Amino acid sequence: MKRATIVCTIWCLAVVVGAMATPPDAAAQSATRGKHVFRKCLLCHVLDPKGTDHLAPPLHNVMGRQAASIKGFSYSTIMAFAGQKGFKWTREALFYFLDKPEEFMPGTYMAFAGLETQERKDVIAYLEKLTRDFENNKVPGKQTDSRGTSSGQSRVNQFSPVQ
Ligand code: HEC
Repeated sequence: MKRATIVCTIWCLAVVVGAMATPPDAAAQSATRGKHVFRKCLLCHVLDPKGTDHLAPPLHNVMGRQAASIKGFSYSTIMAFAGQKGFKWTREALFYFLDKPEEFMPGTYMAFAGLETQERKDVIAYLEKLTRDFENNKVPGKQTDSRGTSSGQSRVNQFSPVQ
């Protein structure tokens, strides 16, 4: 993809997300249902912070994380570019990305058709829970800016696979 196209796409994304940034209704979300939806994600994704050699990057702390920030994972050009531009995985960003990943980010390696509105709300609630759990269990003295890149190994086992 040409750089100009990528720049335009990112810019358009920012505009669309900015204009449509109506946060999903928190009351209508269910992390419990989201855990169920998350099974679909586990076809490709892992929760192990060190699991960078899988098909897709680990999602243990994805809420608020900068796009393409898992070191050692080979992201697509557009995802890497979004990350360089400071694009972060907020609720809104995830809400639109998970609708139709390929439309939201043309050229992404995430070959996934997308989720229904309710499924998106629920899976985002679950991703928030996972991130909170991960953050709360941070070992003392761990650098807060190295999210998911280095010393999360000891806590990995807490993330048992979704039943
Ligand atoms: C078919 C495999 C596949 C499935 C299923 C899948 N993903 Fe992905 N996902 C990927 C790949 C590959 C990437 C890397 C994309 C890139 O580099 O463009 C990715 C990237 C992501 C990212 C960006 C991560 C980062 O570090 O910036 C998020 C967030 C994400 N996926 C969430 C989800 C969620 C939530 C689900 C389930 C609803 C899901 N994915 C289902 C393959 C998949």
